[in-house]
Amino acid sequence: MIEIKGLVKKYGKFTALNHLDLTIEAGTVFGFVGANGAGKTTTFNMLSTLVAPTEGDAIIAGHSIRNEPQEVRKHIGYMPDFFGVYDQLKTAEYLSFFGASYGMSSKKIQLRTEEVLQLVNLEDKQDEYVDDLSRGMKQRLCLARTLLHNPDVLILDEPASGLDPRARIEMRDVLHSLKGMGKTIIISSHILPELAEICDEIGVIEQGKLIASGDIRTIQKQLSADKIIEVQLIADASLEAAQAFFRAQGFPTAINDQQQLVISFVGDDAELQQLLRQAILHELPIIRFNEVKKDLEDVFMAITQGVK
Ligand SMILES: Nc1ncnc2c1ncn2[C@@H]1O[C@H](COP(=O)(O)OP(=O)(O)O)[C@@H](O)[C@H]1O
Ligand SMILES: [Mg+2]
Repeated sequence: MIEIKGLVKKYGKFTALNHLDLTIEAGTVFGFVGANGAGKTTTFNMLSTLVAPTEGDAIIAGHSIRNEPQEVRKHIGYMPDFFGVYDQLKTAEYLSFFGASYGMSSKKIQLRTEEVLQLVNLEDKQDEYVDDLSRGMKQRLCLARTLLHNPDVLILDEPASGLDPRARIEMRDVLHSLKGMGKTIIISSHILPELAEICDEIGVIEQGKLIASGDIRTIQKQLSADKIIEVQLIADASLEAAQAFFRAQGFPTAINDQQQLVISFVGDDAELQQLLRQAILHELPIIRFNEVKKDLEDVFMAITQGVK
């Protein structure tokens, strides 16, 4: 379990992370989503004990990042958002280098190198030069390196950024198998749909503040108080008259380019049913009346709107 308590990071007068409180249960895949500059990397740098918090603390696998960073490091694998250049270094050598920095024996390194390369589907690339690998392969190699010491918690900073769709799917598959192994994974992205398919929970961060968090369905539900209803009338009916009717009921209503009414509805299902009943009583020639599923990108836009 990870417990983040009042975590703050200031750079001079600038607050990069503003009192973050968050509990992440073991085995959860938690996605941090936010625009560039929101504070994701700052948070991850503190959780991985590379940067000291200005205030607050986080407990990872029972250890404080503030007071027991050495212990925390044994339990986490951190994948930074940059890869670096490794001139004339082969894949296996790259992993040995990092294995040695974890204090692993060369025998152990050899054993784990094979295992982690298999995990990230790079087992046939042992003798390739790192710089010759594709971007997707480099990202997976970087992930492999964070797995060498078999940590229970993975902190992955934008692991899918800059990948083409195919490489993204390959990365996602690897993350799925790590999830299957029961790892706790914290992952960031500035693109919500990228996280939605892999995460159990998400946190939305804006300008250093967590503005929403929970399982994706709950967040979606919180927002679905604003339902979008599309209404289609029989051909030749007056759209304007129908629009005037819905507006008179108190709901902003637009006409889209498919000649449908788009109603921004606030209320529960019983109230929605009442609205439909009134419309029929008013003899509006409705042939379709349905709620449009807002996709996650819309949800993200809705929750982050007005913050900036
Ligand atoms: N070392 C630093 N010194 C000063 N400001 C920083 C430093 N690191 C990050 N920041 C600022 O903190 C904010 C959050 O940055 P970051 O955590 O990298 O965001 P994200 O990873 O979400 O894109 C940004 O405004 C960034 O410019
Ligand atoms: Mg970042």
